[in-house]
Amino acid sequence: MAYKNIILEKEDSLAILKVNRPQALNALNNETLREIKAAVMEVKDDETVGALIITGAGDKAFVAGADISFMENLSAVEGRDFGLLGQDVFTAVENLEKPVIAAVNGFALGGGCELALASDIRLASQKAVFGQPEVSLGITPGFGGTQRLPRIIGEGRAKELIFSARSIDAQEAYRIGLVNQVYPPESLLEEAKKMARTIMANAPLAVRFSKAAINKGMQTDIDSALAIEADLFGLCFSTQDQKEGMNAFVNKRKPAFICQ
Ligand code: CAA
Repeated sequence: MAYKNIILEKEDSLAILKVNRPQALNALNNETLREIKAAVMEVKDDETVGALIITGAGDKAFVAGADISFMENLSAVEGRDFGLLGQDVFTAVENLEKPVIAAVNGFALGGGCELALASDIRLASQKAVFGQPEVSLGITPGFGGTQRLPRIIGEGRAKELIFSARSIDAQEAYRIGLVNQVYPPESLLEEAKKMARTIMANAPLAVRFSKAAINKGMQTDIDSALAIEADLFGLCFSTQDQKEGMNAFVNKRKPAFICQ
């Protein structure tokens, strides 16, 4: 598919999605959100792709939020529809059965921070800026921020960031557990690729089941979550890769996983 507001590149078995609306610091309008969803579906269906990196085109912004010019005159119904669209797209990112790494290269505000939150792992450039400035615009976070931010950094910190609309730098984001690592801007993408390749060297189905167990488990009580874990753990023993991984260990050789 041809995209206008994003760039989808493939490098070996790695897909790299760059949000690309330089005139608006990669802000998300309807069209951009739909293109992100289409790209996620393309990555899902492409058996040659093992992981997805999401970043922003250019060196200033990851995504500076939902498009404020577009939202300015929305009615309540249109606002809700726009929120539902963003939620749907970011839930598709979260549920993609392949690891998703956000390489946050600059401003990640509002919907930009929420896109990073929907990713599995967040890596930041030293120049990255995070925040949920929505209340300074008269709205709430609407693409999952009120739900995913407290799940990731805890309720108190999430409330402080959302109520104050305060932006934080990469170091503070690291300190509060919002990002996994911070890198110099020039090495961010390479480090993201390195991490993706490390993950892809492991058994793909085991990584997929681990993601499902964590994502589903985080949304339920501990007993139900442990039952989900037990089912997925058991399912691993029906895969070729479990036989291969354990046989390779026992015979002191490197495993060759085939995603089966
Ligand atoms: N929507 C639309 N346009 C945006 C935008 C956004 N979110 N962010 C930046 N832009 C545009 C600016 O209007 C400007 O356009 P013009 O050149 O035509 O004037 C261009 O991008 C460059 O931006 P600035 O001149 O403002 O650049 P700066 O370096 O001075 O400031 C910034 C950078 C601090 C990120 C500032 O642009 C800014 O505050 N942007 C808005 C951030 C924001 O509030 N995001 C949350 C949106 S609400 C949301 O996301 C709701 C939700 O939960 C779904």
